[in-house]
Amino acid sequence: MAFFKSKEDRQVQVDFDHLPRHIAIIMDGNGRWAKKRGLPRTAGHAAGAENFRTIATYCKDIGLDYLTVYAFSTENWKRPAEEVGAIMGLLKKYLLEAIGRMERDRVKMEFFGDLSPLTPELRELCERTREISKHYEGCQVNICLNYGGRDELLRAARAYAQDCLEGRADPNHLGESQFSDYLFSRGVPDPDLVIRPSGELRLSNFLLWQSAYAEFYFTDVLWPDFSKEELHKAIAAFQGRSRRFGGV
Ligand code: IPE
Ligand code: IPE
Ligand code: MG
Repeated sequence: MAFFKSKEDRQVQVDFDHLPRHIAIIMDGNGRWAKKRGLPRTAGHAAGAENFRTIATYCKDIGLDYLTVYAFSTENWKRPAEEVGAIMGLLKKYLLEAIGRMERDRVKMEFFGDLSPLTPELRELCERTREISKHYEGCQVNICLNYGGRDELLRAARAYAQDCLEGRADPNHLGESQFSDYLFSRGVPDPDLVIRPSGELRLSNFLLWQSAYAEFYFTDVLWPDFSKEELHKAIAAFQGRSRRFGGV
């Protein structure tokens, strides 16, 4: 058990022996963070990427098993090409650095989403990151890239139907765990806690299947300002909840 002073000078109590196993974060609010400072939106994305490094490292240090972050949605292609290009550039920079530090960090990295619309260079970097880190144990970070919950479910349904047509699957025996194996998140337990900074109170197509029994934590803090203290508050709130999963 550890106590922290939050900014409002309230004591926040985190039990590090009983952390949620899997935390998922919608990294939202980069644009508004930049706007508040009179900066271009791309500066907000750079600050957001920097904060992702800080929070991911911290999650590993405290012994979290799984961290999943929403970095780019299937809907984010609607943004101006310049902004999309800047986000992809930051991603490339992050992956190159991550590959350079991999031996030290030993974090297993996965990607959820359809990577095919990315440039061949980015796809190759994602593949290399995944390949080098696949045997690491302890902490797994999943980056949702061109990810959409509905897209994931449609792909799963299509792949499953194909397996049925080709005799590899039998619809009479489809259960939740078999279906989960068709999702990008196969093998990863469902998130216990989903955090959305920036004040928006919606899922925006994030982990629709996997969040069935997740606890939600919303805060007005914008993602680049979402510090370790904010994470402590989210975990402390989670630890104060009663999860019943439909029982009593
Ligand atoms: C999240 O920040 C980053 C991505 C969606 C890629 P936003 O860019 O959505 O920031 P706001 O919501 O406009 O402030
Ligand atoms: C969700 O944020 C996607 C990511 C954070 C990557 P958005 O900013 O795209 O979501 P909406 O448009 O506010 O729902
Ligand atoms: Mg947003």
